[in-house]
Amino acid sequence: MTQDLRLTVAAQLERARHRTTLLTETVDDADLVRQHSPLMSPLVWDLAHVGNQEELWLVRDVGGREPVRRDIDELYDAFKHPRGDRPALPLLSPAEARAYVGQVRDKALDVLDRVRLDERRLVADGFAFGMIVQHEQQHDETMLATHQLRTGPPVLPAVAPPPSRGPVSGEVLIPGGPFTMGTDTEAWALDNERPAHAVEVPAFFIDAAPVTNAQYAQFIAAGGYDDPGWWSERGWAHRQAAELTAPLHWQRDGDGWAYTRFGRTERIVPDEPVVHVCFFEAQAYASWAGRRLPREEEWEKAARFDPATGRSRRYPWGDDEPEARHANLGQRHLAPAPVGAYPEGVSPSGVHQLMGDVWEWCDSGFLPYPGFTVFPYAEYSQVFFGGDYKILRGGSFGTDPAAVRGTFRNWDHPIRRQIFSGFRCARDATPGDLA
Ligand SMILES: [Fe+2]
Repeated sequence: MTQDLRLTVAAQLERARHRTTLLTETVDDADLVRQHSPLMSPLVWDLAHVGNQEELWLVRDVGGREPVRRDIDELYDAFKHPRGDRPALPLLSPAEARAYVGQVRDKALDVLDRVRLDERRLVADGFAFGMIVQHEQQHDETMLATHQLRTGPPVLPAVAPPPSRGPVSGEVLIPGGPFTMGTDTEAWALDNERPAHAVEVPAFFIDAAPVTNAQYAQFIAAGGYDDPGWWSERGWAHRQAAELTAPLHWQRDGDGWAYTRFGRTERIVPDEPVVHVCFFEAQAYASWAGRRLPREEEWEKAARFDPATGRSRRYPWGDDEPEARHANLGQRHLAPAPVGAYPEGVSPSGVHQLMGDVWEWCDSGFLPYPGFTVFPYAEYSQVFFGGDYKILRGGSFGTDPAAVRGTFRNWDHPIRRQIFSGFRCARDATPGDLA
């Protein structure tokens, strides 16, 4: 058992590093140190930061080893330097950063070989290692978003996502009643996903699929960006200040739209989930469509609740780890898959593509669950609770399966759209609907 866990951890660390290497070796050094957007760090910062977190947690804390580079801790502390300031820091060069993360990894693997995985809560079930795997994979998604913001010819290999296997449209009724939200049993779940607790959710309807490019283009064509009536007050103020007229990366192409993705410009694919919209755009679309965004507990109930057993599953399709047939995760494809591409990933209630493709905005702030306790440090979740954030659920094509679950909670500012964010709509069920 313990040996299996060690092998799993080692394989996950290796997989994350393979991804990090691809994202940082496909561009030249000038590109690695450049800031492609004030919203993003230079890629070389992400690289060394990933190594620094691994050093802090696995080498020093879990392993009790001497620091590899104590002098750089401050440089790579995300709380000390906002992203916009990072290019001006005396960062490690690309060659130094690569050498550093390699050195740290060697020591971390040595720690993994020797540590007893049951002696402290931090290492029970390999948690600290899982936390570092997730951290690196989260930065790999951030680095993929940086790749999307850089200009120049394509550098990343892009295999087309699978085609739709059949039309999916309309909405699904999720019955009212309690369900179990959050988890006590996911070994690598983070503190904000805990504990499992019962939540009463009234009956509601949720879209069977995320909102597509074609649907979103109708909102634009109907003047959705010009009518403050569809927008919240704050959303409209942002729409005007930021001069939003379409999702990020969209451009007019004759009478339609094109987008540029990872260096390739092409016509939008109509039945693909829309991506790169902010919370306010999602909210405006929903209101134009006579709907609203789902709340976080509604999203999780739609994804996990099995009405036949009353149990909450780990994933919409069951308890098995995500495979390629279930969901578009893991940067296998550098685009969302069309609606209907993953019939094997459907939830018990018949909701498609909840995991993968696009992160889905929920109309909920980021708050602790009842009974929340900080673990292992306040800077992971607690300092963000109650801030100006909205929840995102389900992961995107850029998210690794190790870094998302049915219970996984992501959060970001409601104006952000450089992330792989989309949405689906919901509405209250009326007594007439339930008759
Ligand atoms: Fe980080």
